[in-house]
Amino acid sequence: MFFHTTVAYLSASVLYLGSGAVARSTLDGFISSETPIALQGVLANIGADGARAAGVESGIVVASPSKVNPDYWYTWTRDSALTFKFLVEEVAAGNFSLHSLVQEYISAQAVLQGVSNPSGDLSTGAGLGEPKFNVNETAFTGPWGRPQRDGPALRATALIAYANWLVDHGDTDVAVTHVWPVIHNDLSYVAQYWNRTGYDLWEEVDGSSFFTVAVSHRALVEGAALATQLNRTCDDCGSVATAILCFQQSFWTGEFIDSNINLQTSINRTGKDANSLLAAIHVFDPDVSGCDDSLFQPCSARALANHKEVVDSFRGVYALNEGIANTSAVAVGRYAEDVYYDGNPWYLCTLAAAEQLYDALYQWDKLGSLNVTDVSLGFFQVFDPSVKTGTYTSSSTTYTSLAAAIRDYADGFVSIVEKYTPSNGALSEQFSKNNGTQTSAVHLTWSYVSFLTATRRRSGDVPPSWGASQSKDVPTSCAATTVNGTYVSATVTSWPAINNSTSTTNETSTGTGTSGSATSSSTKSNTGSVINIIT
Ligand SMILES: *[C@@H]1O[C@H](CO)[C@@H](O)[C@H](O)[C@H]1NC(C)=O
Ligand SMILES: *[C@@H]1O[C@H](CO)[C@@H](O)[C@H](O)[C@H]1NC(C)=O
Ligand SMILES: *[C@@H]1O[C@H](CO)[C@@H](O)[C@H](O)[C@H]1NC(C)=O
Ligand SMILES: *[C@@H]1O[C@H](CO)[C@@H](O)[C@H](O)[C@H]1NC(C)=O
Ligand SMILES: *[C@@H]1O[C@H](CO)[C@@H](O)[C@H](O)[C@H]1NC(C)=O
Ligand SMILES: *[C@@H]1O[C@H](CO)[C@@H](O)[C@H](O)[C@H]1NC(C)=O
Ligand SMILES: *[C@@H]1O[C@H](CO)[C@@H](O)[C@H](O)[C@H]1NC(C)=O
Ligand SMILES: *[C@@H]1O[C@H](CO)[C@@H](O)[C@H](O)[C@H]1NC(C)=O
Ligand SMILES: *[C@@H]1O[C@H](CO)[C@@H](O)[C@H](O)[C@H]1NC(C)=O
Ligand SMILES: *[C@@H]1O[C@H](CO)[C@@H](O)[C@H](O)[C@H]1NC(C)=O
Ligand SMILES: *[C@@H]1O[C@H](CO)[C@@H](O)[C@H](O)[C@H]1NC(C)=O
Ligand SMILES: *[C@@H]1O[C@H](CO)[C@@H](O)[C@H](O)[C@H]1NC(C)=O
Repeated sequence: MFFHTTVAYLSASVLYLGSGAVARSTLDGFISSETPIALQGVLANIGADGARAAGVESGIVVASPSKVNPDYWYTWTRDSALTFKFLVEEVAAGNFSLHSLVQEYISAQAVLQGVSNPSGDLSTGAGLGEPKFNVNETAFTGPWGRPQRDGPALRATALIAYANWLVDHGDTDVAVTHVWPVIHNDLSYVAQYWNRTGYDLWEEVDGSSFFTVAVSHRALVEGAALATQLNRTCDDCGSVATAILCFQQSFWTGEFIDSNINLQTSINRTGKDANSLLAAIHVFDPDVSGCDDSLFQPCSARALANHKEVVDSFRGVYALNEGIANTSAVAVGRYAEDVYYDGNPWYLCTLAAAEQLYDALYQWDKLGSLNVTDVSLGFFQVFDPSVKTGTYTSSSTTYTSLAAAIRDYADGFVSIVEKYTPSNGALSEQFSKNNGTQTSAVHLTWSYVSFLTATRRRSGDVPPSWGASQSKDVPTSCAATTVNGTYVSATVTSWPAINNSTSTTNETSTGTGTSGSATSSSTKSNTGSVINIIT
């Protein structure tokens, strides 16, 4: 197993054998039994060899094997990227058998980038915003909520993680020839189109989505850093990233994140939406210099206040949550007003609520303190009604008791998932708000991935930094800076053997993650087989 356990969390559980301790030992058992099921659940949904992916092209991820009610037998750019963002972490943690799957994914994305579709084609970049394709790598031409602009950003993030790993392992040339051309198209898309409306991650609302904007900023920041590493250009990535971060601030209402603004679709919602919890975990940087509000990091006052607002918005709407104290975790869905499949809790939303808090605990532990501010006071008062604003260092009793209580609270969300997971471990998209039985798509890839990422963070196992601390400054006035990008068809075939040994000459990555340590003693060299990339 490649899961690391931090000393800090071990000591916390030893010191605080409160009411959470018994629940936690049960939860540990669930996590160990569910982990291999979830990983196999992910792999089963990926072609060409996945057990539930018969007929799916190599490297293509199906959202779910469900073909009717609902029909999810498609490949979404978003779901696929989030899946491979996780699988690249597994490679970095030492599971080198996943190299081939990651490479098949990259080769398949190079193909999909060139498929003309109802959103457009590659020549203008517009086709990159198409949300989903048929599993045989042809365009889906039916009506849909399109474009969805988070896809290119998330795909860039997944590929940048792999490219950074290659650089760290002596394979910079492979990152340049095989991965960068695909990344570059996606970065060009983000830099050109971020300031236009598009559909949100739930595919319902045309406007500006917090999730999309947050992951767009991240992609350009880490894309600019990678370009420097690879001696390639990412024209104006930095200045556009700053413009996006500036715009991102406008989603903050003062009390919570309004997930959908600039609405082109009429909706009647509060704006409290798991969109913002997912944004927090997907821009999580383990190496922040502080819990800055501008970045909406998991430990920031804004993201914590928002966490409480979003979670509380589900307390009154599901029968399943009735009778649960306001200080305990509840089942979480997309947004309280949801009516899709009757509007139920989702596994991936409930797990995102847990993951944000595990991320925050990691950040506080690393920073050695936590701040209670006017903005986050309400969040912290759930765990200690008498807590006051101020800075609490990790040696203080206030810090240790808050951290222990927040960890128990986070575990509570995973325990809800445990409670509503059948004994075979299968995870669908939703579970009934009335009685917890599973509903909507079976074996949802994203549900499995969300279980795996949340529980890895719980173990203190985190991805590398993406450079958040260097990109947190917000200009005094916002510019709508965009850059018309260049788009070049990438053909990525025939991958060379990858040098799995850690570079001893230099650590070139911006990463500081714990993954990958002491996992490989391989010193085999790159055999240098044919690299064939045509641009
Ligand atoms: C790296 O690991 C993968 C998976 O184990 C293996 O296929 C590949 O040959 C390794 N690379 C080298 C150069 O040994
Ligand atoms: C490593 O990846 C393979 C798929 O390539 C998977 O079957 C296996 O369970 C993974 N190993 C661990 C320890 O997660
Ligand atoms: C690809 O899949 C779509 C949807 O199932 C189908 O309509 C189309 O005929 C397939 N195309 C090819 C070339 O197999
Ligand atoms: C474009 O950026 C400007 C400046 O931040 C902002 O006012 C506007 O709402 C943005 N529009 C969209 C659709 O992103
Ligand atoms: C960087 O790229 C430029 C243009 O492709 C090239 O002239 C230069 O030699 C490269 N520098 C290094 C250090 O590889
Ligand atoms: C909006 O939702 C609120 C709360 O559900 C409801 O009271 C109100 O009538 C709705 N307004 C419209 C225009 O649908
Ligand atoms: C707490 O606030 C201080 C002052 O604003 C800041 O320097 C520090 O980085 C913050 N610490 C955390 C953990 O956010
Ligand atoms: C619990 O939370 C709900 C929803 O936010 C709120 O309506 C209710 O007043 C709270 N109850 C207590 C006892 O604080
Ligand atoms: C659970 O509730 C759903 C509606 O949310 C209903 O369709 C189903 O029949 C119920 N199942 C049981 C076992 O009560
Ligand atoms: C970008 O391209 C559009 C047409 O696609 C053109 O109208 C616009 O002037 C270009 N902007 C820049 C900065 O080149
Ligand atoms: C593989 O990585 C090791 C350690 O950085 C390095 O010494 C070796 O030259 C690399 N091999 C190749 C073929 O790049
Ligand atoms: C390692 O990288 C740093 C920063 O890029 C550089 O200053 C240093 O010279 C490098 N060391 C070696 C041995 O290449």
